[in-house]
Amino acid sequence: MPVHYDDKFARFTLETANTCYVMQILFDKYPVHLYYGKKDCHGGISYQNPYKSFSPYFDEHGLSYSPDIGMAEYSYFGSGDFRITPLRIKNKNGDSVTHFTYDGYRIFDGRMNLPRLPYSEADSDTQTLELSLLDSVSGCSLKLFYTVFPNEDVISRYALVENESGAPVTVEKIMSLMLDLPTSDFDMISLYGAHNAERSFQRVPLFHGVQSVMSRRGASSHQYNPFTALCAKNATERDGDVYGFNFVYSGNFLSETEVDQTGFTRVSLGLGSENFNWLLEDGDSFITPEAVMTYSKNGLGGMSRNFHRFVRAHILPPEPFEKRPVVLNTWEACYFDIDEKEMLRFAKSAADTGIDMLVMDDGWFGARNNDKAGLGDWYVNKNKFRDGLKSFVDRVKAYGIKFGIWIEPEMVNPDSDLYRAHPEWCIRCTDRNSTLSRNQLVLDMSNRDVVEYLKKSFSDSFDGISIDYFKWDMNRHMSEVGSPALPPERQGETAYRYMLGVYDLYRWFTKHFPGAMIENCSGGGGRYDLGMMKYSTQIWTSDNTWPKKRMKIQYSSTLAYPTCTMSCHVSNPKNICKNPDELKYRWHVALNGPLGYEMHLPNADDLIKATVKAQVEAYRSYEHLILRGDFYRIFSPFDSNYYAYYFTDAQHTEFLLSFEQSYGESAARVYLKIPEADENARYFDTVSGDIFDGRTLVNGIEVKTRETDPYSVMWHFVKTK
Ligand code: GLA
Repeated sequence: MPVHYDDKFARFTLETANTCYVMQILFDKYPVHLYYGKKDCHGGISYQNPYKSFSPYFDEHGLSYSPDIGMAEYSYFGSGDFRITPLRIKNKNGDSVTHFTYDGYRIFDGRMNLPRLPYSEADSDTQTLELSLLDSVSGCSLKLFYTVFPNEDVISRYALVENESGAPVTVEKIMSLMLDLPTSDFDMISLYGAHNAERSFQRVPLFHGVQSVMSRRGASSHQYNPFTALCAKNATERDGDVYGFNFVYSGNFLSETEVDQTGFTRVSLGLGSENFNWLLEDGDSFITPEAVMTYSKNGLGGMSRNFHRFVRAHILPPEPFEKRPVVLNTWEACYFDIDEKEMLRFAKSAADTGIDMLVMDDGWFGARNNDKAGLGDWYVNKNKFRDGLKSFVDRVKAYGIKFGIWIEPEMVNPDSDLYRAHPEWCIRCTDRNSTLSRNQLVLDMSNRDVVEYLKKSFSDSFDGISIDYFKWDMNRHMSEVGSPALPPERQGETAYRYMLGVYDLYRWFTKHFPGAMIENCSGGGGRYDLGMMKYSTQIWTSDNTWPKKRMKIQYSSTLAYPTCTMSCHVSNPKNICKNPDELKYRWHVALNGPLGYEMHLPNADDLIKATVKAQVEAYRSYEHLILRGDFYRIFSPFDSNYYAYYFTDAQHTEFLLSFEQSYGESAARVYLKIPEADENARYFDTVSGDIFDGRTLVNGIEVKTRETDPYSVMWHFVKTK
């Protein structure tokens, strides 16, 4: 079983297929950390706590233990551990000091459910360790959870605090995960960005002090993704120690890492404290969202594949359709200028080219003729759709394709019927003006009345209409954060309660419109996180569909997230591009995830239409690899002017290999190596019709870079013997 307790040494061991995690209860009181890493390497490891002057210690243990030094499982603010702390509770005495000590454990199959939150689903191999701790002065108890997913080498972490003090306390900070590591010889990888440039790759050496990424925007954000990794300085795509961390949550977060005075590293991940506090009444408890971590000795690629398998098996919703639909989205081609006649032309052109679904983007509802009005009024605009939504959707369906629709439930334009009726339903601070962003305000999703209203409104508009897909957008971040529905002492809960309301609405959508698929979006990929993936089959990766920039965004997204989540569209909005090589290049770049099109297909010439048709057909023979295969990166577009990778199946009988040059560069030879290929086999390339020797795949397919762009090549190798 994955969780063991060794009574003799008071040690807990968590085991996955290739990793192991060891902790010990010191002096029957203190849960200390011993080891996390590759399996079978922890024999003989014992707790080291070399005393440092100035470090506090407890009389009863003398200098043999100080909370300030060595590795802990979780630390507590103000009681002798001066490093970053995951927990701070302002207790009834007015100070924020706690000191928790061990009070028992429980090992059970499966996991704890996290009410109202997204979390990873257990399978029959999942086990959980629950450590209980008590702080008699604050009157609070704490439970630390370690849920082990042995098959994917993932351990998830969450914490619960309960107030038994007889008076209210305020939880000022409670992080989901803390991990101490006995070295700082790491680089830290994080993904920073902006709208149109999400998830840029950054790898920098750790330094003494605290380094952090965070969001205080109310969404996980374009600017910093909650994923981070620590990797050995010599770690490559294929080799070296890598620890990966991520958060199953879509709002504000803090991921902080400190290198301490002894050169140890502490990682902590969770809600942070800047936009969060929680008033905990006597007898109440608070449980954090879940954070996940993995370790791989097989470099960045190994870490990514652990996370990919984990997300596919434990986070993503079941596939709604037999095949993931190829979509034709109207946004880039039409913006707000849509009506029934035009949309039916799109539907016909989609059907003619083998595309599975029309996605009608923004502009179909209320007074939504531009981005200044209409958000919140989720009823069809009768000037554009004279006979109503149902009759229009039936006409789309008559072409034999699926239908998807754009919504942005969490937002409201001041120029809308909803705002005029309920100005008090927005996120805002008392006596303070609210800042606009894209002409819109944020609805107060922490208020149940708002969430219930939205359910009714979507139910009134969509019930009885055959909608297969919702593109759920969120196009601004939160400022002046407060809820008119909460008392002053609970204002600090607004952002967190907002996310609970959003998740309630997501869950309602999945139940109320069963079988429909949700594609999450936030001005492109501004909520590209594991919380959203619990409800969204795929995510709009970025509004930037320009291939040269897109390949960077896609490359770094694959570090943490499986390619099946990464919605990738071939974009040619006004059909200006007619060059078949360029169209092929755009398509190659889009084949990194589920395929779609942003194109005025009805107005496209026959050549473009025929090209799209052939592309969709060819995609059908690769999609099993793109959506469910193992993904190996070869070259990063952040290190060179090209991106290369391959997908393969579990038995390595097929490889989909892609080389995409971002900018022309002076001709150079590049070798694309596939070590998983069988040297003694031959491979048929279904793209060129050529036969390749397995040895050539292992030693590397030669590509000559070009001085001109666009340039890309793709091979689909199928093992022949
Ligand atoms: C966001 C999305 C786009 C599009 C527009 C519509 O920017 O990322 O894809 O849906 O909103 O307003």
